[in-house]
Amino acid sequence: MTFTVAIDGPAAAGKGTISKAVAVHFGFAHLDTGLLYRAVGAKVLAGGAPAEMARALDPVDLEDYSLRTPAVAQAASEVAVIPEVRSLLIDFQRKFASRIEGAVLDGRDIGTVICPDAHVKLFVTASAECRADRRYKELTGKGLDVTPEGVLADVKERDERDRNRATAPLVPAEDAILLDTSDLTIEAAIARAVGIVEAAKNAVG
Ligand code: DC
Repeated sequence: MTFTVAIDGPAAAGKGTISKAVAVHFGFAHLDTGLLYRAVGAKVLAGGAPAEMARALDPVDLEDYSLRTPAVAQAASEVAVIPEVRSLLIDFQRKFASRIEGAVLDGRDIGTVICPDAHVKLFVTASAECRADRRYKELTGKGLDVTPEGVLADVKERDERDRNRATAPLVPAEDAILLDTSDLTIEAAIARAVGIVEAAKNAVG
């Protein structure tokens, strides 16, 4: 039987780390759906047309290390506003969600649009300042030349665009469980998420 975990939330709330840890804990496959939008965004920055790039997307494109830069994150958030781009990426995500070993998908619209019937839905959030601080440390740790103010402005700009777009905006599903990680260590946040998924798995039997 398939078992699907949908993990949504704004940029740098910790959903990537939590999703990976949940996937490892339960032996599920993990898809960071932001990478799909980042891969399309990167190709658009290189001169491609958004819908064409989404149509031609190859899973290998998701392995590119340079998808993690702030410029690509902004481009991803911009192409993610385009309804045609979003609909071209649906099939890939739904196929992944039906993996027999179970799947964790993280993104912005997994619980609302991609997998409305997911067995568990988590909405992972944290204050913008807290998220920007974490992202700043992550980016400087990778040697990127960024400032705390610049990273906070980027986080707020992406939040604004992701929350207010017309198609599949960032919003918790009605049946999502909220997990605010502002005052939690990453270990504590992972432990909560694992506990929630464990309870849902036991309920399914
Ligand atoms: O999760 P991320 O920061 O890698 O996502 C990059 C951008 O992609 C994000 O600002 C909005 C978009 N995105 C989306 O619209 N829907 C998703 N399911 C995942 C990401």
